[in-house]
Amino acid sequence: MAFDIEMIEKVYATMAARVDKARALVGRPLTLSEKILYSHLWEGTPSQSFTRGKDYVDFAPDRVACQDATAQMALLQFMHAGKSKVAVPTTVHCDHLIQAKVGAKTDLQVANTQSKEVFDFLSSVSNKYGIGFWKPGSGIIHQIVLENYAFPGGMMIGTDSHTVNAGGLGMLAIGVGGADAVDVMSGMSWELKFPKLIGVKLTGKLSGWTAPKDVILKVADILTVKGGTGAIVEYFGEGAESMSCTGKGTICNMGAEIGATTSTFGYDDSMRRYLAATGRQAVVNAADKVASYLTADAEVYANPEKYFDQLIEINLSELEPHINGPFTPDRGTPVSQMKAEAAANGWPIKVEWGLIGSCTNSSYEDMSRAASIVEQAVAHGITPKAEFGINPGSEQIRYTIERDGIIATFEKLGTKVFTNACGPCIGQWDREGADKQEKNTIVHSFNRNFSKRADGNPNTHAFVTSPEMVAAIAISGRLDFNPITDSLINDKGEEVKLVAPTGDELPKRGFDVEDAGFQAPAADGSSVQVAVSETSDRLQLLAPFEAWDGKNVTGAKLLIKAYGKCTTDHISMAGPWLRFRGHLDNISNNMLIGAENAFNGKVNSVKNQITGEYAEVPVVQRAYKAAGVPSIVVGDHNYGEGSSREHAAMEPRFLGVKAVLVKSFARIHETNLKKQGMLALTFANEADYDKIQEDDTINFLDLTEFAPGKPLTLEFVHADGSKDVILANHTYNEGQIGWFVAGSALNLIAAGKA
Ligand code: F3S
Repeated sequence: MAFDIEMIEKVYATMAARVDKARALVGRPLTLSEKILYSHLWEGTPSQSFTRGKDYVDFAPDRVACQDATAQMALLQFMHAGKSKVAVPTTVHCDHLIQAKVGAKTDLQVANTQSKEVFDFLSSVSNKYGIGFWKPGSGIIHQIVLENYAFPGGMMIGTDSHTVNAGGLGMLAIGVGGADAVDVMSGMSWELKFPKLIGVKLTGKLSGWTAPKDVILKVADILTVKGGTGAIVEYFGEGAESMSCTGKGTICNMGAEIGATTSTFGYDDSMRRYLAATGRQAVVNAADKVASYLTADAEVYANPEKYFDQLIEINLSELEPHINGPFTPDRGTPVSQMKAEAAANGWPIKVEWGLIGSCTNSSYEDMSRAASIVEQAVAHGITPKAEFGINPGSEQIRYTIERDGIIATFEKLGTKVFTNACGPCIGQWDREGADKQEKNTIVHSFNRNFSKRADGNPNTHAFVTSPEMVAAIAISGRLDFNPITDSLINDKGEEVKLVAPTGDELPKRGFDVEDAGFQAPAADGSSVQVAVSETSDRLQLLAPFEAWDGKNVTGAKLLIKAYGKCTTDHISMAGPWLRFRGHLDNISNNMLIGAENAFNGKVNSVKNQITGEYAEVPVVQRAYKAAGVPSIVVGDHNYGEGSSREHAAMEPRFLGVKAVLVKSFARIHETNLKKQGMLALTFANEADYDKIQEDDTINFLDLTEFAPGKPLTLEFVHADGSKDVILANHTYNEGQIGWFVAGSALNLIAAGKA
């Protein structure tokens, strides 16, 4: 569990020289993001000033973190890469595979039984290859990383899109697919397009009901789910400094919801306090020596418009609590406007559940502020109108809030305390009655609220807000309750007004824990056996994907033209499918089952061009595979948004889809497709999307000339024999074309050529 101070000191030892050199090359003051990027260039990367949004650059991240759902495939791939030990400090966290149903103790026992095979696999692979293993119940990956491993000025990658949470401690932490993690664990560089930079200047100070969550809910409202694509968001200003470190984590966490590469804050006192409180005074001592390199040059924040590609300013003193949703995290409604908005849109007013937790908002501060609202309800004799559930972020938080009476406060309102794990946030919620698919409203402090995300019910209207607002709204039972202006009626019929939440940034008596749930790896893992049963339906050793045959793909069928939002949840659903994350064949049965077919408006119903009949997407694709017929997938804007799930790229690859052609991609998914040897293409002319017809057969005309910067030409032959020839752009560089040619990036690593 040690936080590896030697590695951190090593990073700091070279930081000044690297940053000074970069400043001279670039010829101007540097932002914090640039300092971290330039100080983590891969050895051998040419010294030059990189162009934002254009140059692909090789980096050397300091750490890797994987969660249990994505770690299975990442570690299966790592085993395939033929190394004896991970090259950089790496941890695995068991947090996604634990269902929330009865309460922590029972739910954890059930998970330990049901997913024993997977946890044993992850534990033994970790033990063998020098990876720190966090057992089920230890907590949510990003809280544990913040509590133990994140450090100012560091760079890490993680196989989860909310890895970005560690920006709260001044890191550049980036969500990637398992294939990228395998590269870094194998001692290779990690490639990223040099990001653009969005500056967010925070003036004023948070007060009353407004919380750090409202900053990112406001930013999401401004930038939308696509607005941060390809960019790092750097927060600064007096407002940033006045905020807690875990509050900063919340803001960075939901940077994933605006598609940002990552988000970060400069090193400040809140980080010093948090590091010290979590037993890392040694990191503070080391960071203080290079403090000026752990924030932007003063001139940058004095004249930010000169140094950022986009600048947003938010006055925290004027910021209202926000409630974002339903169905998308960028639909922001200030609490004062919710009455009108909810009525105008017909959102169910009655709130059924209030859920507090997730990696976004499960810190000590979050729990204590929400508890202060619950305490008021208890004191005033108000019976809550909605049910309550909480997921503490880590065992350390759970233990400490239990010690400090916070859990007891929640329990006075009948709150269900679920395991220190993702639970409802990842659809691991056995919610009673969800199968009836009734229209209803829930409020939660999570980050995502896509349709079906929490309970599988497409009619659940999920709204995202701060933990304290979740508490107030759940107590009132009304979505349109504004605690700033509205009163509640207590059990005696009296009018009661809640006062603004209070809480402790950090526990007054310090953090405490008996068993944090960490397993250190064997010093020499060479004799550790990793067993995967051949009959397992949850784990399957991988076979390499076939290399490209060097020919144009011809005679391909259109598998689906997806309409509208197509996130990685639509492409590779979570919920019950999580159990197959380590078994490529079995999980492929969920491929694109959430995507809407543009031709019939239905989900999971596409035409099998061989039989002319409609069937589920995976069934049709398996029929094409069996017949040796290639296929392509067509999609809309921001295809693959949402998560780093490489299954969303591996499944189509495994089932024989050759290309995904869309209006635009979410960054991580595009890279994942490339890594798996797929063709990730975008319409040169977006209007060509409308030319694609249901019975189309597709021929690539110049794949044999596949080269960086050169669009590919595709011929779409329609059922009546007419044709449309369209141009498809791509962003492959030479190295990435090498992945395509070899069949996958992993094939190149295993061959020792990458
Ligand atoms: Fe887990 Fe939800 Fe975070 S799934 S890692 S709590 S976004």
